[in-house]
Amino acid sequence: MSQFDQVIDRRNTSSVKWDLVEKLYGSREVLPMWVADMDFPAPRPVVDALIARAQHGVYGYTTRPDSVYEAIELWARTRHNWTIEREWIRFSPGVVPGLAFLLYALSAPRDKVIIQPPVYHPFAFTIRENDRQIVNNPLIFENGRYRMDLDDLERKAREGARLMILCSPHNPVGGVWTQGELRQLGEICCEHGITVISDEIHSDLLLPGHVHTPFASISPEFAQNSVVCTAPSKTFNLAGLQTSVITIPNKELRDRFDSVLDRLHLTLPNTFGLVAMEAAYRYGGEWLDELRGYLSANLRYLTAFLAREAPQIKVVQPQGTYLVWLDCRELGLQTEELSRFMREDAKVGLDDGHIFGPGGEGFERINIACPRSVLQEGLQRIAGAVRKLGA
Ligand SMILES: Cc1ncc(COP(=O)(O)O)c(C=O)c1O
Repeated sequence: MSQFDQVIDRRNTSSVKWDLVEKLYGSREVLPMWVADMDFPAPRPVVDALIARAQHGVYGYTTRPDSVYEAIELWARTRHNWTIEREWIRFSPGVVPGLAFLLYALSAPRDKVIIQPPVYHPFAFTIRENDRQIVNNPLIFENGRYRMDLDDLERKAREGARLMILCSPHNPVGGVWTQGELRQLGEICCEHGITVISDEIHSDLLLPGHVHTPFASISPEFAQNSVVCTAPSKTFNLAGLQTSVITIPNKELRDRFDSVLDRLHLTLPNTFGLVAMEAAYRYGGEWLDELRGYLSANLRYLTAFLAREAPQIKVVQPQGTYLVWLDCRELGLQTEELSRFMREDAKVGLDDGHIFGPGGEGFERINIACPRSVLQEGLQRIAGAVRKLGA
């Protein structure tokens, strides 16, 4: 038995995933398999470090010691072969807030920002809510996998944009971009003066055989033209601790980011987030490798199960992340019907594809970072409802 097989009751912990299920999906009976957090406890060394800090009892204003920077640098170097300099490192209480700060820092109202839908929906919300313009460079879905449309990107870049928010690895389609794809994208952006904000929050969650390339590691030119957002939050299930890392190699961009955070008085860390991040990056590697094995077995299970029990639903094979993009178009349901079908007939809480923007209609995103027994339950519910649909 794996440590990840243990089912932990998360209800009544103010969990967004579990405690908002009735409000969002209309019934407590719905099994939540949405939002990107895991139903697993954090690695033991992280829990121990938090307990030790909690037992101290005094939780006053906290500074960031050198050891935290060292842990971040060490993780980037050992896991991603990326050498980052200490002065590049900045922080944010979450990657999404970080994206908003970067929009303020690096663009002006009405400026164009390129994204690649279907993509993590807060990209579009953040751009729109902050009075910037979305420019879509949709991914191409071909032979069961997604690729970038670099010709379209070149055209859009020529029409003028200030920023591009890249999702690498890509949520929701699970793509891990190759160095070749990233290089071409980066060259287009450099040529047209577009700064790349590379959201690499899923970069530690790779399926076997795939390698993540930090965008800024590709060349010094790319480093100077990009900002990389990472965090221990997805990797070690620490999203509630609101601690993310924003790496900015270019001094001018960094100064602009600093001035936004200074103005918002967002300069001090959360004590527990800091402790957890350092412990995770220093001691969490072994746990992460075990987790990746478990997630890849969950993916194999899901793929075989759906092929056998609900073949109308096609699995877009991810290369990373614990989010799986399901092509449900063969069910023949319209957008609202599909949403209702999953919620009311199957009684599973998934993320409807259409929320991720153009190209998402007819798809659903399922989160497989749960014990196998929970995954089995969710899949059985879906297959049962699909059988009734065909009857
Ligand atoms: C691509 C991507 N970026 C950012 C986030 C959320 O980041 P945070 O909780 O640090 O704001 C998620 C969560 O699902 C994500 O998938």
